[in-house]
Amino acid sequence: MITKLALAAGLATALSSGALAQDISGKVVGFSQIGSESGWRAAETSVTKQQAEERGVDLKFADAQQKQENQIKAIRGFIAQGVDAILVAPVVATGWDDVLQEAKEAEIPVVLLDRGVEAPEDLYLTSVASDQVKEGRVAGQWLVDNVGSEDCKVVELQGTVGSSPAINRKKGFEEAIAGHDNITIARSQTGDFTRSKGKEVMEGFIKAENGGADICAVYAHNDDMAVGAIQAIKDAGLKPGTDIKVVSIDGVPDIFQAIAAGEANATVELTPNMAGPAFDALAAYWADGTEPEKFIITESKLYTAADDPEGEYERRKGLGY
Ligand code: AHR
Repeated sequence: MITKLALAAGLATALSSGALAQDISGKVVGFSQIGSESGWRAAETSVTKQQAEERGVDLKFADAQQKQENQIKAIRGFIAQGVDAILVAPVVATGWDDVLQEAKEAEIPVVLLDRGVEAPEDLYLTSVASDQVKEGRVAGQWLVDNVGSEDCKVVELQGTVGSSPAINRKKGFEEAIAGHDNITIARSQTGDFTRSKGKEVMEGFIKAENGGADICAVYAHNDDMAVGAIQAIKDAGLKPGTDIKVVSIDGVPDIFQAIAAGEANATVELTPNMAGPAFDALAAYWADGTEPEKFIITESKLYTAADDPEGEYERRKGLGY
């Protein structure tokens, strides 16, 4: 009897707190992923699948192979299937109005993951992403703090042209170095967030800058491009991390290995778990119409050699990166 009462009380509490109401098992969610250009992106894909599985969500996954047209096609397919919600990591910032409007008309909530769009805010439920301007600022501030008054020519490896992290991380870095006339961005080019392109572009920078002797630092908009740049620096007979400072964004296992080896200096962490907060927001929305914050901002923490890079590598390896 006591057990039955306790169970009943537990059930009542659960119902009143909305815990049971927020069970989203059985919901069908479409996920339009950009592709697999970086280790971070691969981790985001694994974490999203895992978060869906833990909640009993039926996740329909579509890999766009870096093409916006494929993403738009996938979203239209999800709408036609009548999914309960759509997650989209938008490859570029513009060109989404029409398809988002179609999802809105079909009453399917859309959640943006890790990148922003230039579209009216009422066309999506929420956006789960980092403050990308802040990421650039944190990286730039690290450089300011570590260069002192010495002249420093920076080369910049930008992310995908037209993507929100490429636009915002550039802006934030420039804000941080503004007013420090000894630090200048000498060259800036896209490496498309990939390791191979990062290496190729860095090789060009090295050739153009006196075999790399004139470069003081490389700022890469993600770790994969930084890892490619590190290889190019080594191939040129220079020491990454010492002859050329390396600062980037993501916090993938490989960059922690590079930091531990003294070949990279700093990274700004970006969590690959965008789906957890997205599913929580959807659960509350489905439960009683709760509108989430328009922008759910994840943390941007700086890591350097002082932050146990070996330990950080161990903690991350095997997490889908
Ligand atoms: O949008 C997030 C960025 O996209 C990550 O920093 C990068 O690695 C990825 O490709």
